[in-house]
Amino acid sequence: MLKVWTRDVLGQFVRTRLTGHRLIVVSNREPFQHRRAGARIECIQPASGMATALDPLMRASGGLWIAHGSGDADRLTTDEFDRVPVPPSAPAYTLRRVWLTPDEEEGYYAGLSNQGLWPLCHNAFTRPRFDPDDWEMYRHVNRKFANAVLEEAGSDPTFVFIQDYHFGLLPRMLRDSGSNLVVAQFWHIPWPNREVFSAFPWKEELLEGMLGNDLLGFHLPHHCQNFLETVDCSIEAKVDMAGSEACRGGRCTMVRPFPIGIDFDEHVQAATSDEVGFHMQCWRNQLDLDNQVLGIGIDRLDYTKGIPERLRFFDRLFEQYPEYRGRLTFLQIAVPSRSSVPAYREADLEVEALAAKINFRWSRHSWKPIVLLKRHFAMPEMIALHRLAQFCLVTPLHDGMNLVSKEFVASRIDKDGVLILSRFAGAARELKDALLINPFSIEEGVSAIQAALTMPREERRRRMAKMRESVEHNNVYRWAGKFLSELARIEFPEYPEPIDVEFPQNCNAWNERILEVAV
Ligand code: F6P
Repeated sequence: MLKVWTRDVLGQFVRTRLTGHRLIVVSNREPFQHRRAGARIECIQPASGMATALDPLMRASGGLWIAHGSGDADRLTTDEFDRVPVPPSAPAYTLRRVWLTPDEEEGYYAGLSNQGLWPLCHNAFTRPRFDPDDWEMYRHVNRKFANAVLEEAGSDPTFVFIQDYHFGLLPRMLRDSGSNLVVAQFWHIPWPNREVFSAFPWKEELLEGMLGNDLLGFHLPHHCQNFLETVDCSIEAKVDMAGSEACRGGRCTMVRPFPIGIDFDEHVQAATSDEVGFHMQCWRNQLDLDNQVLGIGIDRLDYTKGIPERLRFFDRLFEQYPEYRGRLTFLQIAVPSRSSVPAYREADLEVEALAAKINFRWSRHSWKPIVLLKRHFAMPEMIALHRLAQFCLVTPLHDGMNLVSKEFVASRIDKDGVLILSRFAGAARELKDALLINPFSIEEGVSAIQAALTMPREERRRRMAKMRESVEHNNVYRWAGKFLSELARIEFPEYPEPIDVEFPQNCNAWNERILEVAV
């Protein structure tokens, strides 16, 4: 399949299509965080699918990224305008940090965003909490970010690209400012059906806030449909399902699906690096892989990721298939996340207790079936694991997309390895050659693991090759490029429809075409 979107193509696209405009990205999570490490200050890239996806776009385009400065050394590394050039090793764009007080962070982030909207939008059967004080703080922090955007944009024509559910009210605040902005938002998590959403006590205000966007993106068509139906039955607006837009007060919001991807090329390059080779050797020694088959899971420690359900698969597997006792190790990385939220602390305790219970039941001599590692790992360490594993379990109870599944596939330069994937992850629409399961079903989980362990090499290679093709093609540059194409067409309606799939026959011709259109 022809690969159209690359980092260079996107860079050229941004320079030519967004001409005369600034690009400002807004998110809660910052792409680079400075932390104290003893007497030193270290700069880390937080575990965030969103930040990982946006960083290549910003590197390609330059521009400004506004985010919450949450690192304990962030203030020490910013200038008097709260700005810092990033990435530190080779600055390509500017990060502007917004400071939040502990109360603001608690109400807007831990409260409304992560105890209200997060469980509401994910069907993981965790009850949302709707606290009016949190809502008030959410409003207040959205306003704080609006002020930062308006300050940075001034009167320049600017595209503002807002990320995620932390900023449902920000689009309307920007729209009502009367500034010269084209406003767009990508909602990185699912949108529930209208019955579920109707429980949200401030639904009219939130929807009105989101309809401040010119363009609103979700991962999947059915999230778009759910959103439009929610608008239709909740507020006065003209909803055009066929045209996929909602109009209110004379302004329309286009609602479109943009399934997100990863930087495939960079990932492949990393997978072949000496650094990854070094980590592979370390893991081999640490996990005794000369004598063990390895299965892996890599997730934020989040109750939507289905980690306890997944661990139970192994308990049942060792019961049903004694031949795997002593021979199979399942390594679960659980990156600590949102630990100020009670449901996350409970999930942590549950995972810890379950791993201990299964290990107590099945361990023999030096063999331990479950290795649970609860810390942040650098990408090369994780890619090394991808490359060593016979199978990878990505079994969220519900997930907008899930980039771990795509990272695993991209790492498999040998075209081997089996992906076991939840049907309820957005990625399942695309990675149809994974073994798709219902993550709530122990039977399906166990038979998928058994199938992965016995699958002939030819079949593994055939499935992996197809998935790699798809992940390579639907990469993050395509996601960003298609989103920005739609965005640019709002300002420049003469631009053609976003270019897709196999058109045109080669990238050079296409680059020329972009230039022609832009001139
Ligand atoms: O998936 C939604 C999301 O907000 C992502 O955008 C982000 O990668 C992830 O959750 C991490 O969340 P947090 O920023 O709260 O650690």
